Amino acid sequence: MIRPTALVTGGAGFIGSHCCLDLILNGYNVVVIDNFINSSPAAIEQVERITGRDITLHDVDLTDKSSLGEVFQNHRIDVVVHFAAHKAVGDSMNRPLEYYTNNVTGLLNLLSAMQEADVRHLVFSSSCSIYGDAEDLPLTENSPARPTNPYAQSKWMCEKILVDLCTRHPEFSVTALRYFNPAGAHESGEIGEDPTGVPGNIVPFLTQLAAGRHDELQVFGSDYATVDGTAVRDYIHVMDVVEGHRLALETGPLPGFHRYNLGTGVGTSVLELIREFETVTGTTIPYRIVGRRPGDVPALVASPALANAELGWTARRNLTEMCRDAWNFQEKHPAGYASAVMSGGGSA
Ligand code: WQD
Repeated sequence: MIRPTALVTGGAGFIGSHCCLDLILNGYNVVVIDNFINSSPAAIEQVERITGRDITLHDVDLTDKSSLGEVFQNHRIDVVVHFAAHKAVGDSMNRPLEYYTNNVTGLLNLLSAMQEADVRHLVFSSSCSIYGDAEDLPLTENSPARPTNPYAQSKWMCEKILVDLCTRHPEFSVTALRYFNPAGAHESGEIGEDPTGVPGNIVPFLTQLAAGRHDELQVFGSDYATVDGTAVRDYIHVMDVVEGHRLALETGPLPGFHRYNLGTGVGTSVLELIREFETVTGTTIPYRIVGRRPGDVPALVASPALANAELGWTARRNLTEMCRDAWNFQEKHPAGYASAVMSGGGSA
């Protein structure tokens, strides 16, 4: 059987590497492009080790149109899964132009290269942050978009570009997946979340803190109108997220533009997350309540009903498993992928 080939942009990143693993285990060949700004080639080596299959890896930045075009010329690509983007809310408030250049221009370059190569099937990594300061929870795909930071704004702009593309070119099939808060790691513990520098996201910060790499967690705000004053998010296991991507590919190509929430429908506050992480891992998390982080919103919780109905997708893993699996990766690799390379990589 000929294995379809998926081009995974940002495939060395946290969600991207887990997607590569899931696609390979489900019959795809995978080609990855990544610029390693927030990832490591070691993640790809680990996926190859786990699956026993080679991945073609190109060190390409999406703002480099000619290198991007060469990838499409050198491979017969059937589908594209697009993760490559800057993705931290707080960071985007400090670097808006970098977020728009990388996230929006990067998408435009990718779409041009796809059109040139007659590749018309795309799954796009969108984000729940588009919903902004939502009034009615849980959020459906028809909830109003109220982005409150450049990261969320860039994802909303990308979705509007994709809608216009599909309106003009109905031969395109595009599925935008609005993730809520991905967390956890593959059960092997050989791949996981290992951002460059100090993590902006809370779960990798928790695992690194528990591994002794930080002194305390700053909790951004305790004056929100939530169960305990700290912000509420819908944490979703990264393996559930990537299974959603594969189901979107396999349900397709549905002509036109489609968007789906990928969330559990369960909201967890920052303090509840800390307590669950401590219980699951047996570690103690020192934390200090500080002011709100600019760009943050009080609560984001998904209604996954549309993805359930149209993709046959539902989240199967809970917060306990997310904490367990995230900590399993960090315990095996205290310094992240740097330690994987030093120790010659993990076992298959
Ligand atoms: C979660 C909560 C913080 C760090 C993420 C991704 C984004 C999108 C949505 C996919 C917030 C609090 C955090 C810390 C804290 N996912 N926090 N101390 O901002 O919800 O967005 O999920 O597209 O890409 O970035 O995630 O982990 O940064 O924050 O108190 O040191 O934890 O205020 O309430 P966020 P996060």
